[in-house]
Amino acid sequence: MDKRIIQERMRRKRRQLLMRKIMRLASCVLGAVIVVTVLFKLVISPLAGKISGGDGKVVEVQAQTPEVDSTLAARMPVKDQSNAEKATVMTAGWQEDEKGKWYQNADGTYYANGFLDIDGKRYYVDENGYVQTGWVTVDGVDYMFDENGVYDETQQRKMVALTFDDGPGKYTMQLLECLEENDARATFFMVGTNAAQYPDEIKKMAEIGCELGNHSYDHPQLTSLSEDQVKNQFQSTDDLIAQACGSPATVARTPYGAQDETILGWIGKPCFMWNIDTLDWSTMNADSTYNTTMENVTDGDIVLMHDIHQPSVEAAIRLIPALIEEGYKLVTVSELAKAKGIDLQDGKSYTDFCDSTVAALKGEDSTDSGEGDSDYDSGSYDSDSDYDSDSSEDVSLDSSYDSDSDGE
Ligand code: NI
Repeated sequence: MDKRIIQERMRRKRRQLLMRKIMRLASCVLGAVIVVTVLFKLVISPLAGKISGGDGKVVEVQAQTPEVDSTLAARMPVKDQSNAEKATVMTAGWQEDEKGKWYQNADGTYYANGFLDIDGKRYYVDENGYVQTGWVTVDGVDYMFDENGVYDETQQRKMVALTFDDGPGKYTMQLLECLEENDARATFFMVGTNAAQYPDEIKKMAEIGCELGNHSYDHPQLTSLSEDQVKNQFQSTDDLIAQACGSPATVARTPYGAQDETILGWIGKPCFMWNIDTLDWSTMNADSTYNTTMENVTDGDIVLMHDIHQPSVEAAIRLIPALIEEGYKLVTVSELAKAKGIDLQDGKSYTDFCDSTVAALKGEDSTDSGEGDSDYDSGSYDSDSDYDSDSSEDVSLDSSYDSDSDGE
């Protein structure tokens, strides 16, 4: 009896011990599985992905995205609330509704917001997918699309940059309102003495997309000043312009066009001369200023006027719609350069962006990087002599400016 009880207890005890061992083993195995799983998910898997290049492929696609031409149209889902009418059309190809022409893809998407190349023809579709006609500006460049929306590469938009010196003045606001009404822009080469007096005009210029130019502080002959004096002339004017509108001038023009390479370097901005001189300060006659411009204007010109004179502003207010009517786009000097494919450089002077000048500037750039150093030198001598003949006229500007500023 006792023996049996003892044997029974021994058997229970062994069973208990076995169960404990099994439980301990099971929890150990479970723990190990959890640890391995977590380790694999957090560390080994991503690492293995990188090594095998699986992840690398995703990165590659992302890196390629910015290289894709951002001006190309994107596929958009048709079933969009703002495009209720498009959602009803499910056949692929060109579609038309009362708002215009658009292109439906077989997969139920349409193209929007960019260039679209179909059957060897290039179109431009707006943010709602409609094909544009007439002049379209993309990234600062103008493209002509015919009445069917097909890009006409033979057409180049005529552009002209009106520039106004020595202001702002009491007639400047009137001129700015006219520019705004006509969706036109101009460049203002301002002197610090006037910039201090007309901050509202400067603010307005910036607001409507006009370009702010620095024309020195008080209009001295820069060739007779020291480096510090020249730098102060432009720095103090930049400070006044920035005070008025938040940013300094982006371009400059030297008083009387009197400049040399050293002075241009000290100014440290792209500098601009002109190729149409209206002589507005001399004639003080609106008709004469208007006619000189209209009779001589060609694509790429930079026109010189002065917004401190009432007849000049009167002429400009007539010129702005008239030039637009003639097919010209009125742009700033920097916009003109960009449209003609010229990268402006600090410390360099530009007179106009007519075809021959643009070709010469582009030639200069290419010889710049190549050998032809002597060619480059003779090229810059040529342009220097052009400036000389210009500045001889500008010296007469000199005396007039002085008498004018005395009068004001
Ligand atoms: Ni001037």
